[in-house]
Amino acid sequence: MTIQVNTTAPVHKPKILVARAIFPEALAKLEESFEVQSNQSDRIFSPEELQKALLGVEGALVAGSERIDAATLSGAGNLKVVANISVGYNNFDVPAITAAGVMATNTPDVLTDTTADFGFALLMATARRITESEHWVRAGKWDQWSIVNNPLGMDLHHSTIGIIGMGRIGQGIAKRALSFGMNVIYHNRSRLSAEDEKACCATYASKEELLRTADHVVLVLPYTLQNHHMIGATEIALMKPTATLINVARGGLIDDAALAKALQGGKIFAAGLDVFEGEPQVHPELLKCSNIVLAPHIASATEKTRRAMVDLAIQNLRAALDGKKPPSLINAEVWKG
Ligand code: DGY
Repeated sequence: MTIQVNTTAPVHKPKILVARAIFPEALAKLEESFEVQSNQSDRIFSPEELQKALLGVEGALVAGSERIDAATLSGAGNLKVVANISVGYNNFDVPAITAAGVMATNTPDVLTDTTADFGFALLMATARRITESEHWVRAGKWDQWSIVNNPLGMDLHHSTIGIIGMGRIGQGIAKRALSFGMNVIYHNRSRLSAEDEKACCATYASKEELLRTADHVVLVLPYTLQNHHMIGATEIALMKPTATLINVARGGLIDDAALAKALQGGKIFAAGLDVFEGEPQVHPELLKCSNIVLAPHIASATEKTRRAMVDLAIQNLRAALDGKKPPSLINAEVWKG
């Protein structure tokens, strides 16, 4: 018996949502296998628009700008996977996603070195007042050059860096610091293994000890409700007046109003921020400070890395819709494989 394949039969293409603009070639590839509802205009959805956009789709590619919770998931009965194009996933209410039986994924590893590079770059720019110096040049102040009156910075070499959050990115920053002859101390929920501490030449410290001792404090830990405002006026008061504070993790870890006050009052030397409470808004008092370097959440933003993040998010989405375990599944309890 000959089996005839009806090549004209419509192929079922699962519906997916791509909630932010992605690289056009990646989108074109997705369109070969899925019915794609995309947002290449990149206007951020309101929660209500996101909830509507999720109705009827089986998978969604989202980023930190999309909060996925019980409200946005209501009515999304076909949804099997939400794939974040980001390693941090504080935009996910994981218990609510899990309760809805939806897989949640993120993009670890592919951005570690790029983000560590940027953390170190932001530290250097902050300690050596590179933004202020550029403004000085652009304002035609170079003729005021003097030995004592240039923007004088703080040294990195042979100083102490205190890293709060010693995961993959924190360890990457520690290894970069070693090549500057820096002394590395760290604070983390759990201590590293002796082997990992040795690889980073890092010494564990309590948060208070780290804040008192470090010349440069760098935050690289995930945001949770428990560590909201973990750096506020009280913690800043422990820091040296010559210290810098760098955040490449998440807004909300620092009390931005307290930080602005401390910077204006000279309580610490300077700050470098890639992330903000309520971003893309920036606290107006921070904008008034000259001793701060501001960046628009770009720590992972190299073309190579952003492409790798999109590719990994797509791999996660495809695996979930093919009935396979996504490579970076966050809520393993949903996996029924
Ligand atoms: C991440 O992946 O968590 C970075 O902050 C980039 O969004």
